[in-house]
Amino acid sequence: MDLHIGLLGCGTVGAGVVSLVRRRAGKVADMTGSRPVVKSILVRDVSKDRGVVFEHERLTQEPRDVLEDEDIQVVVETIGGIEPAKTYILQALSRGKHVVTANKDLIALHGPEILRVAAENHASVLFEAAVGGAIPLVGPLKENLTANEVTDLKGIINGTTNFILSEMTTRHIDFEEALDMAQSLGYAEADSSSDVDGLDAARKLVILSSIAFHTQVHLSDVKVVGIRHITATDVRYADELGYVIKLLAVGRDHGGELTLSVRPTLIPKVHPLAHVSDAYNALYVRGDAAGDLMFFGRGAGRMPTASAVVGDVISLVRNLKLGYVVSSPNGTMSYKPVVERED
Ligand code: NAP
Ligand code: HSE
Repeated sequence: MDLHIGLLGCGTVGAGVVSLVRRRAGKVADMTGSRPVVKSILVRDVSKDRGVVFEHERLTQEPRDVLEDEDIQVVVETIGGIEPAKTYILQALSRGKHVVTANKDLIALHGPEILRVAAENHASVLFEAAVGGAIPLVGPLKENLTANEVTDLKGIINGTTNFILSEMTTRHIDFEEALDMAQSLGYAEADSSSDVDGLDAARKLVILSSIAFHTQVHLSDVKVVGIRHITATDVRYADELGYVIKLLAVGRDHGGELTLSVRPTLIPKVHPLAHVSDAYNALYVRGDAAGDLMFFGRGAGRMPTASAVVGDVISLVRNLKLGYVVSSPNGTMSYKPVVERED
């Protein structure tokens, strides 16, 4: 039996989702009895070359071809930004469709509302791809590490800025040239200022901290400094002194009080985070039972991100077969004040 997917957006990530769903469909059918098939794809321009050859998938500019199609059980959102993505997701959920999204802006700002509407409609919302590209972070924090009090999150969670800083350090190119490369490689957001000014990392820190610390963190809680002002001279001086500059996201739970920041940080060259180059991401997590863990992998790009999206789709297919709804609220939430403190 086919499980029909509706895709919203078919850019860097969406086109990767189309090819990876096709590549895995047979195996998923063998495992679950349901073959995932992308049925309709919403885009702005149906004539654009997307680096993927469409077979049975139908491109459309009409949202209702996805949102009102009774055959479509799973909607995958890869448009990005707040609107119209939010309206489309809420419409899909209110029709009982399950949603997979890569949209950190939306989850960071409107996650609680989206999860509430999902729960009201017995539908699932999964968003592993919203943080860390291919690296499983949401799942481990939500599931595998729930036996822990997590006290520390620290790492590099924006691929574009890590790529820019790495290129400035190793190839001595300037900021603008490195940013152009990150854009052409598909790492940057449609509005790259959200990468460069640290907002993308801050949104991801909101998502991770809300899950890890069992509370609701807000974007305004995060102290954010981006990398726009970092010059080739800064990078060279850091190098001469034995450091590299990285955009570091840090979330700490100091016994019920949180500190949250994203800022360029001098990292000693001997530290493992200094070796995270290109668009790779890495996150340290400290749990009271697990101790220290480090997650590392490709944090951006077409196929790494498609890996996380399609992983969520396959989880859904499996869970639908078992009759589970895997909507993912944080479980018990408590209020934790966010304080200003130098770590
Ligand atoms: P993208 O390349 O800009 O693709 C966006 C797609 O959405 C395009 O196909 C575009 O259609 C479509 N679209 C935009 N506005 C639309 C509208 N109003 N109605 C219908 N379609 C619309 O973006 P992306 O890099 O794939 O990113 C997508 C999402 O994944 C974002 O939330 C981003 O933060 C997230 N993400 C990206 C990466 C990455 O490495 N790129 C990694 C993790 C998460 P047209 O093509 O016709 O213009
Ligand atoms: N623009 C984002 C980044 C994409 O560079 O990390 C992955 O979320």
